[in-house]
Amino acid sequence: MHPWIADRTAAFESSGIRKVFDLAAKLKDPINLSIGQPDFDVPGEIRTAAIDAIQSGKNAYSPTQGIGPLREALRAEIAAKYPHEDRDVFVSSGTSGGLMLAMLSMINPGDEVIYLDPYFVMYPALLKMCGGVPVPVDSYPDFRLDPAKIEAAITPRTKMILVNSPANPTGVTASEEELKAVAQLAADRNIALLSDEIYSRFFFDGDFVSPASFNDQTIVIDGFSKSHAMTGWRVGYVHGPAEIINTMLKVQQYSFVCSPQPAQWGALRAMEVNLDGHINDYRRKRDLIYDGLSDKYEISKPGGAFYVFPRSPIPSGAKFVERAIEKGLLIIPGNIFSKHDTHFRISFAASDETLHRGIEVLRSLVSGG
Ligand SMILES: Cc1ncc(COP(=O)(O)O)c(C=O)c1O
Repeated sequence: MHPWIADRTAAFESSGIRKVFDLAAKLKDPINLSIGQPDFDVPGEIRTAAIDAIQSGKNAYSPTQGIGPLREALRAEIAAKYPHEDRDVFVSSGTSGGLMLAMLSMINPGDEVIYLDPYFVMYPALLKMCGGVPVPVDSYPDFRLDPAKIEAAITPRTKMILVNSPANPTGVTASEEELKAVAQLAADRNIALLSDEIYSRFFFDGDFVSPASFNDQTIVIDGFSKSHAMTGWRVGYVHGPAEIINTMLKVQQYSFVCSPQPAQWGALRAMEVNLDGHINDYRRKRDLIYDGLSDKYEISKPGGAFYVFPRSPIPSGAKFVERAIEKGLLIIPGNIFSKHDTHFRISFAASDETLHRGIEVLRSLVSGG
């Protein structure tokens, strides 16, 4: 290792997803079912609002907590859903920025954080950067949020439970009962509950439920990246107990400074955009991929996000992904998100034509396909 590089960076590897993308760079016209962002573009009125902001000189730093109108619009929406006296909100530099600030503001070295395996790759990396101890709880084979398993993982060092529903990489959603039980457990044991709700709008069966409905101390992280296809704009938000929010703002002041101002004006407009068409389209795509594969692959039907996480037909998910890539299909091996190498992630945020081509390749890769 180069002598100038800090020890903390050696605790985690760079994202395995990049390695798959490098492999894929050699493919001509790949069938790409690997991407973690919507296949539609940012709605036109949002683009116009951001361009207008740039043209009218709204290009400086914004207040650390975000532009007033966006923060107020978010505050009103949040207060209507969670009428907690002590709940405050600020605009972060994407959901990732919010996650980083949450960890820096709450995790002391040695603190344990419980979350489900499989998990979003950023969780263990961020935790290790802060000296925290990841405590992944195995959720195979159905990937459900089992309150009994969470409870069994609690120790005197447990600082936080991190939930993500709908989940990346499985698309599985937690039920109201499961969330209520975990929210109650966190409250009873005085453990911080952090809810990553970036996929909350992509909820296909029924209405989205947040653990904040059952635990008024829940810290919620959400954003515009996935819902409005604004991944490059870097606008997220965090709401929770005022003192925690203020501490996160102190750290934001000395790190991200603010979310890009023109993008925040775009996000303000985004709050008025009706996403029903896109959500219905993604529900249909979920059904298309699930119906196209479930007779050949073991799959937990996803209730949200835009991922499915089937079991590999051969013992190693990573080997299976290599075979798929040889046939031009780009998917992500499950061991990037998990200690198990038995599954693979498909993103169905793709055109129907790409989905049909992907299904065809995947069916040809199982015996009797
Ligand atoms: C579960 C989860 N949380 C957070 C993020 C980060 O999103 P953002 O673009 O808002 O930083 C992602 C992106 O893939 C995600 O899958």
